[in-house]
Amino acid sequence: MNTPSLLVLAGDGIGPEVMDEVKRIITWFGDKRDLRFDLSEDLVGGAAYDAHGVPLHDDTMAKAQEVDAVLLGAVGGPKYDDLDFSLKPERGLLRLRKEMDLFANLRPAQCFDALADFSSLKRDIVSGLDIMIVRELTSGSYFGEPRGIFEENGKRVGINTQRYTEDEIDRVARSAFELARKRGNKVCSMEKANVMESGILWRDVVTEVHQADYADVELSHMYADNGAMQLVRNPKQFDVILTDNLFGDILSDCAAMLTGSLGMLPSASLGLPMENGRPKAMYEPVHGSAPDIMGKGLANPSACILSFAMALRYSFDHGEDATRLEQAVEKVLASGVRTADLMQADGGKPASTSEMGDAIIAELDASL
Ligand code: IPM
Ligand code: MG
Repeated sequence: MNTPSLLVLAGDGIGPEVMDEVKRIITWFGDKRDLRFDLSEDLVGGAAYDAHGVPLHDDTMAKAQEVDAVLLGAVGGPKYDDLDFSLKPERGLLRLRKEMDLFANLRPAQCFDALADFSSLKRDIVSGLDIMIVRELTSGSYFGEPRGIFEENGKRVGINTQRYTEDEIDRVARSAFELARKRGNKVCSMEKANVMESGILWRDVVTEVHQADYADVELSHMYADNGAMQLVRNPKQFDVILTDNLFGDILSDCAAMLTGSLGMLPSASLGLPMENGRPKAMYEPVHGSAPDIMGKGLANPSACILSFAMALRYSFDHGEDATRLEQAVEKVLASGVRTADLMQADGGKPASTSEMGDAIIAELDASL
């Protein structure tokens, strides 16, 4: 089989520095586990804007369509705040999601035991937490037409459209049910069927898919506002949460914070299978570009490293090595090594980005 290809788009802010650690991890898997990747790199977001005047060059888009998986760091920064909407760094990311048709966004919210005291909730509410949010990523109010700022009777009106076809709901629901079968076998679907027609259709289609093909999975429905409340009240009631693009954006930040650190959480965005059977895929940390700490060696590379673990599992069928990497990260945390985001103010000297990378590589070595 050909060497699988990876396109690295480190992006802006702390993206490049956390990605440097991921590249060391990729090299480790090549040297020690004989898992080799054909790696290429390119620009996205503000970095692409600086070089080409657009947040994603057409050539980069074309490359992303060809590779087996894309690894993305982060996009955005205050420098780009005044750019026209169509040129903002985020548009580069949204273009990748849309044109690669990455409709299923997997956002695990897992509470590492060593970090349970970091959560803003009490330890017993979050310890052992293991939720998977499946967020629809290519439709809904992020992309629905009509959209824009228009004028009506001399006054401006801002419009976005929440729109879902039944096929769009069907395919992401299947992703959620398939995942649930490999986990706790439970799906809770969240929408606002009490006020939105798109929510009524969402609930209907999810129910139909369930009855037709996944009746063995336990399915429940919740209004998204109640879902937000339940996530902070008793998050361990959930296994897989299935929701739309905008609710998923909000609920996944909420779930992320339950775990104590945004700096720990990876994500996978998956599309339809390519000719070689692999899904179109992009992997990225949930955290943003954190321009305030950029270049200082303070960033936690774990989320980006764990995103590579997800790539090993979902794109390359190396679940065992994905687990090896996840366990290495967990052991590092358990041993007390902490980047600044995971320390109390008086916690002593934090590990730098590359020291965290060193510690993870040392644990990987120890796993052999
Ligand atoms: C996310 C982010 C993005 C989103 C932004 C950066 C466009 O918040 O991935 O959750 O809103 O989807
Ligand atoms: Mg978000």
